[in-house]
Amino acid sequence: MLAGHETTTLALTWALFLVASHPPTAERLRAEAVEVAGERPIGPKDVAQLRFTRQVISEAMRLSPPAFILTRIARQDTELAGHRVRVGQRVNVPVYAMHRSPERFPDPHAFDPDRFAENRPHQDRYSFLPFGAGPRICLGASFAMAESVTVLATLARAFDLVPAAPKRVWPVARLSLRPRNGMPMRVAVHKPFWRQGS
Ligand code: HEM
Repeated sequence: MLAGHETTTLALTWALFLVASHPPTAERLRAEAVEVAGERPIGPKDVAQLRFTRQVISEAMRLSPPAFILTRIARQDTELAGHRVRVGQRVNVPVYAMHRSPERFPDPHAFDPDRFAENRPHQDRYSFLPFGAGPRICLGASFAMAESVTVLATLARAFDLVPAAPKRVWPVARLSLRPRNGMPMRVAVHKPFWRQGS
């Protein structure tokens, strides 16, 4: 439940918050969904074409990685970035902090899905770690992306979302990175889409 459900739920929660707070992004998402799928249900075969939607999910997971920290236990004495690590010691990989490093991501606290556009220079493999890396990389990464992209495109096409309560949403790091008081939203059916469908 934690690996497959909680993580995807949180990625979508943070993505919806960012989209609801940035109307131009909501418009771009809606335009892409309509261009790719018109009014029909959005499904797995659309995912590859929903490029901007994918960028939004990636940027949401950069700013608020559901798995905000990775942990490893050293199997032997070694040295890491000038620090001595003894066998059996725990090493935490601070994914949240790495994702907000100005050396890796210029203007790191800004929400900018175009960082992940195809024509932008690629990050090095170990700078962006929402799914981890190496032999224990997330087993469900492709499925999670397909699921998140499908759901976000479907919701963005159909609804206008506005964050309902606090101006400032606080993340809480508790196994996964979640909003402290949930993410209440006002949801309205997007009128033009509703009219087209009726
Ligand atoms: C946005 C959604 C998801 C995120 C952010 C996420 C993140 C991660 C991360 C960071 C790891 C690596 C942990 C580590 O290296 O210590 C991991 C492992 C794993 N994930 Fe996901 N995950 C997501 C969705 C899913 C889904 C949908 C499934 C199953 C359908 C899944 C199944 C797993 C499993 C089984 C592992 C353990 C792999 C191993 O240790 O060999 N995850 N996930």
